[in-house]
This record gives sequence, structure tokens and C-alpha cells, in this order.
Amino acid sequence: MLAKTAAAGSTGLHPDVLAMSTSLDQDLHMVREDLAGSMAHLTMLARQELIPADAATALKGGLIQLAREARAGTLQLPREEDVHMAVESELGRRVGAASGFLHTARSRNDQVSTDLRLHVRERCLVHLDGLLSLLSEVCDRAEVERDTLMPSYTHRQRAQPISAAYWLLGTASQLQRDVEAFRWAFSGANALPLGVGAIAGSSLPIDREFTRALLQFDRLTLNGLDTVGDRDFMLDYLYASSRLLLHASRFSTDVIDYSSREFGFLELDGEIACGSSMMPQKKNPDVFELVRGKSGPQLGDLVSLLVTVKGLPGGYNRDLQEDRGPLLATGARVQAVLATLALALPRVRFNVERCFAALKADATQATDLAEALVARGMPFREAYKKVGALVRMAQERGTALNDLSPNLAQEMDECFTGDVMASAQVSCSVARKVTAGSTGPASVEAQLNTLRAFVTRTREELAGAPRLDTLLGSLMEAPL
Ligand code: ARG
Repeated sequence: MLAKTAAAGSTGLHPDVLAMSTSLDQDLHMVREDLAGSMAHLTMLARQELIPADAATALKGGLIQLAREARAGTLQLPREEDVHMAVESELGRRVGAASGFLHTARSRNDQVSTDLRLHVRERCLVHLDGLLSLLSEVCDRAEVERDTLMPSYTHRQRAQPISAAYWLLGTASQLQRDVEAFRWAFSGANALPLGVGAIAGSSLPIDREFTRALLQFDRLTLNGLDTVGDRDFMLDYLYASSRLLLHASRFSTDVIDYSSREFGFLELDGEIACGSSMMPQKKNPDVFELVRGKSGPQLGDLVSLLVTVKGLPGGYNRDLQEDRGPLLATGARVQAVLATLALALPRVRFNVERCFAALKADATQATDLAEALVARGMPFREAYKKVGALVRMAQERGTALNDLSPNLAQEMDECFTGDVMASAQVSCSVARKVTAGSTGPASVEAQLNTLRAFVTRTREELAGAPRLDTLLGSLMEAPL
């Protein structure tokens, strides 16, 4: 592919250098952002009477045409170095000499930063939408699974009984933090760079505040030198995305393990279980492996941008163009993971019997037994030792703690009364938990209520956030 450029004084550039340096194909994913930025800039220039009214009108007409075509997906731009030059050159073709006024008091440095910030802002809102839907889906499923009991794990060894709702709400809590992270990334990106020019500002009386209001940014960037070399907002977005994908990856590992024959707690519907090309009996959890797999390249993309920025001198440096790959890959990846999890979750079923059998087979209620003794006045460390001895005795006899006869237990130590033993049955373990944040029914209910209120509140708070297409539409309609 050959690129050309009308950028200042570079007509002699070797075609291979141009081909190597072009970002056009990636930039085309941000063409609506670029057009929105240009429309706002143009409106401001016209209002400040920095360009002739007839040129402004012609330019506005040209930009509206381009925006319509961009929305319809039919826009063809010339093969220029980047989207900024391509738009300018196409405007030249369509409106003639008036196109030369658009770049007044603007540089591609503040322009690209504006496009990127609009893009990150939009991505955050799209991801937040998907995340909030997934979060409420997980809550709904948790509600259904309140009475499904299963073991919890520490060190991948059976620990204590929990409800499946509690397991699901563990992931929901992570998703809640991901919502907060994307909101943080959104507000980091929500500052207008346009108007700082190449680095030092402009001697022309532009009105950055007016442009800011048009593009619905909530503030101006503070310092132009910082602005043109700043990709912190993008790092924040990549970090929020990486953390979400880590959470998705860890959840997937649980699902993959729990759906294996070794655990047998979960079954995947045929629609999401993949077969093997050779082994006819296989029902593989590829979908969750693919979700887990996405976290690898995601971490790579975060590190990639960190390394690109590391050690750059102040101001704009062309290295920054490498930001586009990680940015675009991240957006697509996050959406794919959110959509896949939302689709897969209802297609995963619990095998209630296998879950309960796993609880009973081990002494998962041993801590409850110790607590039952503590409740009767015994120091915890003593209770711990006595229960430990009881567990060993049950193991030696090949009996589950749950099935140990009360007489045998009391023979071993008289503290193990029928009452104590009955209160520490596996089936009552979850119901007996009373602390905040526990697997106990009241706490699970409270967790559900907190998360649902969080979803409702966040949706309300985000309802007025500026969406790119609406913004572009209103800029197209706004008078000059
Ligand atoms: N294509 C460039 C980028 O994506 C735009 C900024 C170019 N600025 C410059 N001074 N050459 O970063």
C-alpha cells in the first residue's frame, strides 16, 4: 500500500517511508471522532471570525457530507498519511480552496489526542453498558442459585461450604470494581486537548472553552506540552480493560475446572460446549478457555503502550502512533469477552448432587464444628485441636465427618454432644453464617441488594453521558 502526504514540505518523502509511517488504516476506526472534532473546531473558528463566513459554510457542508457517509459506512478517503490529512485532502477535493482554512490554530498533535480521547470515552461507555448488563445477569443468576450448595476452595483444596450464589457474587464484586475502573478511565479521557496546537498554543484568539462545550468534554487539558505527549488516559483505559479480562480469566478457570469430570459441579449446554475432532466423547469448555486466553494479549497490549511511552522526551513524538494497535485491539477484545460471558452464563447448569457430594465427602464443616464448641465457651485453639482429632478419627474409619455417629464422636470426646454434632451438619453450614460479607443468607441478600442498587444508580448517572453518534448528529445539525 502506498500512502502520500500533503503534510508540510514532505512531497519528496520516499514512498516506502510513507508506506511505513502511515496510520490511515487504523485511524479509519476513528473517522467519526475526527469529523466531530473538525466540526467543533470549525464552529469555533467561524464564531471567533478567524475564517471567512463563506469558507466556513462550505467547509461545514463538506464535513456534513463526510459524516453522513462515515455513518453509512460508505466513506472513501484518499490514501494519505493519516486520517487527519485524508479528511483535509478529501475536503479539498469537495469544497476547493476553503479547505485550507480548517487547520487554523490546530495541529495533528492536538487533533490526534482529541480523536483518541473521544474514542476512549466512547469505548468506556460501550463497555460500561455491557458490563452493567453482565453484572445484573450474574445477580439474577445468583438469586436463582441461593440454595445450591457447593464447596469453596483455598489452595484448590476444599475449604468451607458456600452457596453457588456466593460464588457468583464473588465475580459480581469484581465486575463492580471494573465498572468503577471504566468510569475512572472515562473521566481521565474527558478533557479537551484541541486548541493547544502543536505544543505551545496559538497567537490567534481561539476559544477553547467554546470547543469544549461543543464536544461535551468536562474540562480543558491544563498544559499543551503535556497534552500532546500524554497517553495516560489511554493507559488507564488499557489497565481497566486488563483488569476486567483478568477477572474474566479467573472466573473462566473456575468454570473450566468445575465442569471437568474431576469436579463435576457444572455442565455446559451443547450450544457452548465444543467437540474434539478426534475424540467422539468430548464436550470441551473452549468458550471459557478462549475468554481466559484473551487476557494474555490484553496484558501484552497494556505493556506495549507502557513501553512506548517510557523514556519519551516531553511533547509529541511519533512513537506515540504505536498507541493505536493496543487501543483498537482492546476495544474489540473487551466487547467480545463481555458478550461471550453474557451468552454463556445461562448455558451453564449446576449439578446439585455432585456439589453436595463433594461437600460431604470431606470435612468441609470442620470449622463450623469448632465454632459450635467456641459458642459453648471453649477457647478456639482448643476446639480446633479437638475437631482436628475428630476429623482424623473419621478419616481413619473411612467415614465422612457428616456421617460420623454422635455416639462415636462423644466417646472420643464428651464435648461432641449430639447437639454440637447436629448443629455442624454440612447442610446447615451456609445457613448458620451470620457475618457481613459471608455466605450466610442474610449477607448474600445484602450483597445482592447492594449490587443491584449499584447497577441502577450507575445506569442513572451514565444516562446523560455523551455518546459519539449523538454528539456527531448534534454537531451536524448545529448552526455555524
Ligand atoms: N499520525 C499521527 C499520529 O497518529 C498524527 C500526529 C502527527 N504529528 C506529527 N507531528 N507528525 O500520531
